[in-house]
Amino acid sequence: METLLQGKRIVLGVCGSIAAYKVADLASKLTQAGALVDVILTDAAQRFITPLTFQALTGRPVSTDLWGVGSGLPTHIAHVGLGESAELLVIAPATANTLAKIAHGLADDLLSVTALAARCPLVFAPAMDGGMYEHPATQANVASLRARGAVIIEPVVGRFASGLEGRGRLPETRELLGHLRRVLGQHMGALRGRRVVVTAGGTREALDPVRYLSNHSSGKQGYALAQAALDAGAEVTLISTVAGHLPPPIGVELVSVSSAAEMEAVVLARREVDVLIMAAAVADFRPASAQSYKLKKDQAQPQLELVQNPDILAGVGQMRQQDGWPRVLVGFAAETNDLHTHASAKLERKNADLIVANDLTEPGAGFAGETNRVTFFTRGQAPQPLPLQSKAAVAEQVLAWVAQQFALAKDAPKHYT
Ligand code: PMT
Repeated sequence: METLLQGKRIVLGVCGSIAAYKVADLASKLTQAGALVDVILTDAAQRFITPLTFQALTGRPVSTDLWGVGSGLPTHIAHVGLGESAELLVIAPATANTLAKIAHGLADDLLSVTALAARCPLVFAPAMDGGMYEHPATQANVASLRARGAVIIEPVVGRFASGLEGRGRLPETRELLGHLRRVLGQHMGALRGRRVVVTAGGTREALDPVRYLSNHSSGKQGYALAQAALDAGAEVTLISTVAGHLPPPIGVELVSVSSAAEMEAVVLARREVDVLIMAAAVADFRPASAQSYKLKKDQAQPQLELVQNPDILAGVGQMRQQDGWPRVLVGFAAETNDLHTHASAKLERKNADLIVANDLTEPGAGFAGETNRVTFFTRGQAPQPLPLQSKAAVAEQVLAWVAQQFALAKDAPKHYT
């Protein structure tokens, strides 16, 4: 989450649904991430959860009453200001009634007044029992809100409090947060309209149908880079060897690959992107031939012949000299000795703009953990060492560097999505 939500003014409207208890966790997570969360509860919401819960979690006053007095002003007037100054208004859970009211411009309670006054992106997370979400009236209201630019976080299928099953359950906090990050990024991120490809994980080079050669890369650094690119508003493709092991960031296009050859094919098929970030630990070698059957231990001592894999980053770096694709090329360097010598050589040899070098022997750096310590190597500048920090913070700094390249070149995005 790092800095995206820091200081952001978010209005969280809560409606009357059994799912109201779930958004206490959302309010808490947003607050922990540094957002200023102003909660509005409808009358019905207060039958499920109290203002005190949200006040304790957000450390801010909670509003409920259209006709009270707040900031010295009648509440309905104070909340026009709140709606106007908010950077995001999220209504979760959004009931059929509140969706209908806001879709039709009714303003008979504090939440609907605030929603009408808001000038920021509007996000609805509908949650309701039985077939209410599928009802044509609700669907028409959802469609009309969408047509006006609101973002709808689709409810998930599951079992309701009534015992019925269907689509209408509020997604889990992780998913709600992912959508909110996406909306904020697309609204104000420095890479809006850019397309970014990130590779993650260690490639797997098959020996036989059950065994492979690989390395210790968990994919965490690559996934953090994909999330940071989404937070910056980019359209992001994540080419991953660990899909299924790590939850993908919400909003990413996930492409699952296994070997270096597969990864290379997918990277080279993305010629329209602006930025390529190679965080994957690509195996330099693969078995000369993969057996089509499982090698048996009673067979004669197997001999392992290795052949060199394509160097994806170097290949792209070479093409770039001809056609200028991609605009920004970032590689990583995983070293165990002579970091400066090897990373500087990779910057040149692979024709990258930035090499993010990590020393795998340093405590807290490199494979699998939650942290990393990296040094930026760029052309014509002294290496820039960064402190030991979370992989998310490293990722944010890489994406900030990328965004700066476009800003310095005064290069406007070619395609807005
Ligand atoms: O996944 P985690 O557990 O979070 O760990 C993160 C990490 C240590 C894997 C990551 O921070 C990292 O260093 N990734 C690059 C690992 C690597 O392959 O380094 P390298 O020095 O061998 O390769 C240099 C660059 O060339 C890399 O961008 C690599 O993706 C690329 N390469 C390498 C070989 C090859 N055949 N093709 C390539 O494109």
